[in-house]
Amino acid sequence: MPGVVLVGAQWGDEGKGKVTDYLAEKADLVVRYQGGSNAGHTVKVGEEEFRLHLVPSGILYPGKICIIGNGVVVDPQVLVEELEGLKERGIDTSGLRLSYRAHVILPYHKRLDELEEERRGSGRLGTTKRGIGPAYVDKAARTGIRVVDLLDPEEFRQRLALNLKEKNELFTKVYGTSPCSLEEILEEYLEYAERLRPLVADTGQIINQALREGKKVLFEGAQGTLLDLDQGTYPYVTSSYPVAGGACIGAGVGPKAIDSVIGVAKAYTTRVGEGPFPTEAKDTAGEYLRRRGGEYGTTTGRPRRCGWLDAVILRHAADVNGLTGLALTKLDVLTGVDPIQICTGYLYKGKILSSFPASLRVLQECEPVYEELPGWADDITGAESIEDLPPACRAYIRRVEELAGVPVKLIAVGPRRDQTIEVADIFG
Ligand code: GDP
Ligand code: IMO
Ligand code: MG
Repeated sequence: MPGVVLVGAQWGDEGKGKVTDYLAEKADLVVRYQGGSNAGHTVKVGEEEFRLHLVPSGILYPGKICIIGNGVVVDPQVLVEELEGLKERGIDTSGLRLSYRAHVILPYHKRLDELEEERRGSGRLGTTKRGIGPAYVDKAARTGIRVVDLLDPEEFRQRLALNLKEKNELFTKVYGTSPCSLEEILEEYLEYAERLRPLVADTGQIINQALREGKKVLFEGAQGTLLDLDQGTYPYVTSSYPVAGGACIGAGVGPKAIDSVIGVAKAYTTRVGEGPFPTEAKDTAGEYLRRRGGEYGTTTGRPRRCGWLDAVILRHAADVNGLTGLALTKLDVLTGVDPIQICTGYLYKGKILSSFPASLRVLQECEPVYEELPGWADDITGAESIEDLPPACRAYIRRVEELAGVPVKLIAVGPRRDQTIEVADIFG
């Protein structure tokens, strides 16, 4: 019953969509377990590019069972539009299933996300403004509305009316803005409900049954370890649990369902939004990586902050996820960079820290310690095996393995599906 979790090992946008799409060929089920349409997962097949926000990145294989699990917060408008867009491009989406238990993002969540960011001023988090934080707040406060509630018009009306009482007080009295209209939301959302009804299922049961039958299940994380609510750079994080343990909670399976955990890491580091980023390169190196790597957000188009690979965060990711392998992406972007720097530790008040610090102040004050490695000049975008890579590139991979303490099992040398080298069989 091989269950494989793919988790972002950095601050998101590591290439999880691409790696999921590559591995999905062998998987029977592909499952999203947390986050929502804050995610932007890019998949490139031939010259065709797909940007997915809610639909799992296995959808490009006709009929593949793709599940949006209970841990995801679903914006029905985004999901309906995404499905239509895929269908228009000739993609068979008949394998998509949506959990009854997933929570629904409502217009007031998106408005609150914007208003809260405005109110934070210079302390803003740089959210994607997709309503993610406010939706998870309601889930924890037990005032959320789930897909199962949306499908029951009377239940939906009652819950919505109750919620709007409180939310509209906030809009009018705290933020001094207009209230949300119950009837307008009802009209719009009941239409979405009918569009989504055929997809809705007890997804936990589907996944557990598949595992019992020995099928291969791929859990596709969104965001990344350093954006995890508990393990990330709090409060500059998202409101869900991207880490591997989140797959159990957000898909409805037990911990024994997970056989391996692959951390997806770029060969350098990026971050979009605010918050600490010790290896950020604000000089020409950072600009070079942004330009060569096309580092602009898939969801918001914002330029991503860029910097060197950080082995401290990779070791943290290895621990908190129980990584059994790494998928190292965008190695081709480093071609022509010489020397290449890797951060091996953080220096704080004259001492090397033994672990990734929880304190934001320490993170901001610590100094990354770098090691320099020779670069390579040859184009690697056509490499089909590890032997095709220049010696300096192979040495870089080996050093990343040593510093992270995790073997590299997959390498990406370009955005397309075929620009992937599977070093070791991930479904084993
Ligand atoms: P995700 O959120 O983790 O799925 O990553 P994104 O899709 O947001 O960002 C990754 C970007 O890098 C996308 O534009 C991918 O097409 C691209 N990409 C992924 N792997 C590679 C690679 O190995 N080389 C290059 N040049 N681009 C890649
Ligand atoms: P994928 O799945 C990169 C960041 C936002 C912000 C913080 C909180 O494509 O890797 P939120 O809207 O979640 O409340 O924003 O998290 N963020 C991401 N950064 N990739 C993502 O997803 C992200 N999803 C959220 O920029 O800093
Ligand atoms: Mg992304």
